[in-house]
Amino acid sequence: MAKIQQKITTIRSVSKMQRVARQLAAEGKTIGLVPTMGFLHEGHASLIRQAKKQSDVIVTTIFVNPPQFGPNDDLSKYPRDEKGDVRKIKEAGSEIIFIPKADDIYPEDFQTYVNVESLTQSLEGKARPTHFRGVTTIVAILFNITRPDVAVFGMKDYQQAMVLKQMTCDLGYPIKFVIAPTIRERDGLAMSSRNKYFTSEQRPEARALYYALHTAKEMVKSGIGDTTLILREMKAVLSATCRTAKIDYVEFTNFESLKPTRHVVKNTICSLAVRIHGVRLIDNMKLL
Ligand code: PAF
Repeated sequence: MAKIQQKITTIRSVSKMQRVARQLAAEGKTIGLVPTMGFLHEGHASLIRQAKKQSDVIVTTIFVNPPQFGPNDDLSKYPRDEKGDVRKIKEAGSEIIFIPKADDIYPEDFQTYVNVESLTQSLEGKARPTHFRGVTTIVAILFNITRPDVAVFGMKDYQQAMVLKQMTCDLGYPIKFVIAPTIRERDGLAMSSRNKYFTSEQRPEARALYYALHTAKEMVKSGIGDTTLILREMKAVLSATCRTAKIDYVEFTNFESLKPTRHVVKNTICSLAVRIHGVRLIDNMKLL
């Protein structure tokens, strides 16, 4: 059977995107927003599919956002594949792709940043102090330009999702905030644009994070709640799966507040960042 060719519009101009968003609202259509930095994988496609369930028109954005990169993150080396991205976005069912230029988003005299104060202090925020300020600023700008009714973010970047949810609430955006589940490879590795940095020999060792989280979940299921014991096992699993794994952090926190906990109780989530062959991976799992 012939595949139905869906129409897709690529918009590069901020003012055109603003006009289209206003027009869609005037026609009574709801907008679902999926912000991305491009180099799409199945995880992004699942966000688009989630947005499609809850809104009439999906706007997917591609913008590699300079302010969320720290001095040690190489912005120029961030993987890009616009042609492939457009194809994947179309296949996932998005009607509009917004690809703004960096100079249009951040003109020379740009000087306004959005900062969520408390939730950004731990985990990724501790390791990358200016990162979330960049993320909240660009997402606020994208909210203002595209005026979505629904916005979808992935659970893989759990702290980012919680920070953005707080910003959406604090700044009074009338947007339904959706956090979609992490999509994993068959061996449990969370899908990420960074996975492409592994050679085929290194790649099996990247499942170390999932194995460690799975171990934690199993320990909790068997009645162990002491995070010191769980952490010890997780470290053993990490180094057994990847001998050279370098742990940045493994933290047990409350899901909503991100406050650390010594004992696993309801709503405890474990988050970790680990370097596998020099590639910094993050992952998380709700333990109870
Ligand atoms: O998760 C990402 O890809 C980015 O942090 C986001 C939300 C698109 C902001 O640049």
